Amino acid sequence: MDFGQLTSFKAYTEKALDQLVLADNPDVEKYSLAEVLNKVILGNSLEVLKKLPENSIDMVFVDPPYFLQLPKKELRRWKVKTLVEGVDDEWDKFGSFAEYDEFISRLLTEIKRVMKPSATIWVIATYHSIFRIGKIMQDLGYWILNDVIWVKTNPMPNWLGVRFTNATETLIWAVKDRKVKKYVFNKELAKEFGIGKVAANVWVLPICTGAERLKDDSGKKLHSTQKPLELLRRVIITSTREGDIVLDPVAGVGTTGYVSWALNRNFIMIEINPKYVEGIKRRFQENWPE
Ligand SMILES: C[S@@+](CC[C@H](N)C(=O)[O-])C[C@H]1O[C@@H](n2cnc3c(N)ncnc32)[C@H](O)[C@@H]1O
Repeated sequence: MDFGQLTSFKAYTEKALDQLVLADNPDVEKYSLAEVLNKVILGNSLEVLKKLPENSIDMVFVDPPYFLQLPKKELRRWKVKTLVEGVDDEWDKFGSFAEYDEFISRLLTEIKRVMKPSATIWVIATYHSIFRIGKIMQDLGYWILNDVIWVKTNPMPNWLGVRFTNATETLIWAVKDRKVKKYVFNKELAKEFGIGKVAANVWVLPICTGAERLKDDSGKKLHSTQKPLELLRRVIITSTREGDIVLDPVAGVGTTGYVSWALNRNFIMIEINPKYVEGIKRRFQENWPE
């Protein structure tokens, strides 16, 4: 993706990089906006969100654990029998649907408090959890504006051939409550990737592969669910203005903050896993688009 076509982005300087990460201090009760702006907070978002100022965020992007509930036994490809590297991370494991719902509900409750009255929120998930998340959002008073269907041009094949290949994820786009009318929707930009001349709710684009994908020291994917830059570009340009503050409370390897910064928006990211936070740092340092 060529950010340069969209904006004259600011270089992320060594000094800024030094100050990119803020480890949450359990003794601190509140953070000012200045303390957390354009920072990655290493910590548990259920705790950290409570410390952020209320009504301060313009847009939230949430890509929560999926609770995929994969079978215990390993999955091997049909015929060739090589191992399928799915999402099998500790952060995706919950004891039950009730436990998962509790986590999502607490997260969305804390998020609502920090959203400005005009803010919007995007939540992305697969069929495993998006329906539960939608219900929880409605129960919490969020008002759904759209569901946007991301059609993947290169989905993970269904190796066992026992059901359709799942080639979509759903993004729910919502406001804090149904009375909110003044939120940002850049319709003209949305038409750029709609259907014909219509700013439609179907986005066709590939999953994150190749050079864009962050790798660990052994050359394996650093994060199993890193989202494509282009997906975040669409989210950000359609629902924010330059200078806005974008929050991602489950940041992974920081795709949201990275694209926000490239598009002249501010960001606040929270991630619990130090390994991914290191990845974010590396990304801002090495992969900055020239
Ligand atoms: C689906 S991934 C997000 C991927 C991200 N969108 C990207 O492009 O890299 C969800 C992330 O939430 C993080 N996470 C889970 N529980 C958390 C919590 N309580 N606080 C902060 N981060 C959490 C996990 O470590 C994981 O990296």
